[in-house]
Parts: sequence; structure tokens; C-alpha cells
Amino acid sequence: MPESFVVTIEPLGRQVVCREDQPILDACLRAGVWLPHSCTHGTCATCKCDIVDGDVDHGEASTFALMEFERDEGKLLTCCATPRSDVTIEADIDVDEDIEMHSVEDFVGTLVSLDEVARDTVRLVVELDRDMAFNAGQYMKFTVPAAADGSAGSVDRTWSIASPPSQPRTLEFHVRKVPGGRGTDGWVFRTLAVGDQIPMSGPYGRFVLHTGQDNHTIMVAGGTGLAPIKSMLRHGLENGSYEGEMTLYQGGRSREWLYDVDVFRRLAAEYDQFTYRPCLSEETAEDVAASGDDPDAYAYGMVTDVLAADHASLSGCKGYLCGPPLMVEAALKTLMSKRLFPRDIYREEFFNEGDKAGGVNSPLIKR
Ligand SMILES: Cc1cc2nc3c(=O)[nH]c(=O)nc-3n(C[C@H](O)[C@H](O)[C@H](O)COP(=O)(O)OP(=O)(O)OC[C@H]3O[C@@H](n4cnc5c(N)ncnc54)[C@H](O)[C@@H]3O)c2cc1C
Ligand code: FES
Repeated sequence: MPESFVVTIEPLGRQVVCREDQPILDACLRAGVWLPHSCTHGTCATCKCDIVDGDVDHGEASTFALMEFERDEGKLLTCCATPRSDVTIEADIDVDEDIEMHSVEDFVGTLVSLDEVARDTVRLVVELDRDMAFNAGQYMKFTVPAAADGSAGSVDRTWSIASPPSQPRTLEFHVRKVPGGRGTDGWVFRTLAVGDQIPMSGPYGRFVLHTGQDNHTIMVAGGTGLAPIKSMLRHGLENGSYEGEMTLYQGGRSREWLYDVDVFRRLAAEYDQFTYRPCLSEETAEDVAASGDDPDAYAYGMVTDVLAADHASLSGCKGYLCGPPLMVEAALKTLMSKRLFPRDIYREEFFNEGDKAGGVNSPLIKR
């Protein structure tokens, strides 16, 4: 039996029991104590806190998200650190009063469909064993089985929920193949099959639609970064929970990389408040016309260039950015150059194990 310790979270004064093999963040989120976090695998540094008292094991925290001198100064990443004694930590907790956070729980999902929707991209639909309350934009942690690629031991992989919270049991996910990736190349695109039972936990994340606002919302999605944005858009539009304008910039190299274009076209036709801008960075209007498609149905260029050309100023807007870290950084710079403050830009970077090992550490991305 693993030993358990008491973790005290200041300034809340809350106490949770945490096993010696359990990350402190996990114990807190399961006990309904919301701590800041994003990637939950030691890469983004969002969960960095101070140790006031006690000892921890820093686990798999990357050396750039938690540098040696920060460890010496008594900092920890709650998503990786496990307790070695009773511990008191001090966290910078900025809870948004408009958003009800839901405790993390374990679920078993049954895969009900797996369809290719774009190049190297699949849509998974998973039926949970019971309803789950979540906020539009949050994600789940899947347990990738040990035997999937011959590797020893299971690992966790995080994929964002693409369906709205109004569907509490049937969740949609979009997964892109990463060559050599354990969860995608080694499992989802290799052995995962309809009917399989998948252990998972959730909901995680603080990249959520802030519904108590009516600012013009600019959403930028690269690749499967579309998933949480789709959940937010459907929640905001179909449930009438967002009153302001919403504009989606969806980036892809060519049409074969874009998906759900028809879904967003339908939403744009139905809701005046929604504008859809699918952007092609490597196909031209001539390519599109030559294939018999309507060239006016797309914008051409990098998603950030299209966005920049569309708006002289974005002052007063809110930004939601999601996708590969480099795309998110480029979009962040674009929004800031158009007079949006960092505090008005919400973002989720899809960090993977390669990013963790390689040291993604942009001064703009650092929190
Ligand atoms: C909050 C969040 C939400 C996400 N949501 C989605 C989503 O909705 N859809 C989606 O497609 N993705 C999403 N991702 C990304 C996802 O979690 C995975 O990182 C991605 O699917 C790749 O997983 P993998 O196991 O296949 O690859 P990994 O095993 O993580 O490997 C990724 C790459 O790194 C290389 N690599 C692995 N280990 C090392 C190492 N030690 N040193 C050097 N290189 C290494 C691999 O060869 C591979 O090329 C999200 C990420 C985060 C943080
Ligand atoms: S949430 Fe802990 S490092 Fe990203």
C-alpha cells in the first residue's frame, strides 16, 4: 500500500490527502480543489507553485519548465510532484467566478466510432460509462495500453473534447497522427478498434469558453487544435450561451488537411453572430478552382496573415488559440500586434513528449 500524506494548499487553507505515487495536482483536482494547470505533463510550467514546507519528488518535470535553480528555490510543478512528507504549497489561484470547475474522476469509455476525417486525422466517438460534467474546451486523459506498441507500461495521453457539454456522455475527439508517437502512431492509428474499452480521466484544463462575456471572440485553430474550439463554438452558438460575435480561423496546408468545413459552414449560415474563415497556406485559388471547388470559399495564406489582413485592430476582442505550440506562438504575436492584451488571449498548446524532451521555451509562451 502506498503511503499517503496531507497536502495543504495556501492561500485557500484547503487540505487534501495525496498518495506518495500521486501527483499533487491530481489529488487536488479529484478533491475539487482547482489549481492552475494546462499540459499536465511537466512541459508548460502553468502549474508552478512554491513549496512552503515539506518534501516532494519532482518526478518527470522537464528541466526547462522547472529549472535546477527553481528546484533549489523551493518551486514545484504540481502536475509532476509527488509528496514525500506532509507538504504545504502556495499557489497563484485565479478562479474565474463565471466558470464552475468540475472535479476530475475516472471513467471507462467505449469506442463507438473511429473515422478518418482528414489526412492523418481521425474522429473518435466515445461513450462514457456515465455522464460527465465539463466545460467547453476541456480535455481528457486516455490510458494508452502497455501492449499497443510492445512498450512496457501504460502511458497517459491527453486529447481535447470536441463535443459540447450538452452531450455529457457521448464525447467526440480529433486525433492527428504524430510519426513515432506512442499514443497515435502506436495505438490510435494501429490497434484501437470500435468496441474497445478505454480507461480515461477528466475533465482537465483551464482553456474554456468564458460565457459571461459578449466581446468579439477571435478563434484560431491549427490541425486538431480545432477540437476544443469546436466544443466552445457549439456550446456558445447552439446553447445560446455566448452573445457576442464569434469568428473562427481554421488553418491547414491544403483542403485535405481541413475537416468539418461543412459543419462550420452550416453554423455560419444558421447564426449571424458566427463567421468562418477556412485558410489554405499551400493551395492557391487557382488550385481550388481547377478542382471544381469554389475558390471564394477559402482564404489563402498562413492563418495568421489572413487574420492580420482582416482586422486593422482587435482592441476589445478576446482571443482563443489552439494547436501546435509554434502556431499558437505566431497567433499570439499577431493578436498582440493588433492591440489585444495577453490577459485577453486564452490558449492551449498541444505539447507532446518530443516538446517535453526538446525544450519548448518561448518567452511569449511562458506564463
Ligand atoms: C492540453 C492538451 C490537449 C491536447 N489535445 C489534443 C487533441 O485534441 N488532438 C490531438 O491530436 N492532440 C492533442 N494533444 C496532443 C496529444 O496530447 C499528444 O501529445 C499527441 O497526440 C501525440 O501523442 P503521441 O503519444 O502519439 O506522441 P508522443 O509519444 O508524445 O511523441 C511525440 C513525438 O515526440 C517524439 N518523442 C517521444 N519521446 C521523446 C523523447 N523522449 N525525446 C525526443 N523525442 C521524443 C516521438 O517520436 C514523436 O515524434 C493535446 C495536448 C495537450 C497538452
Ligand atoms: S500543467 Fe504542469 S507543467 Fe504543464
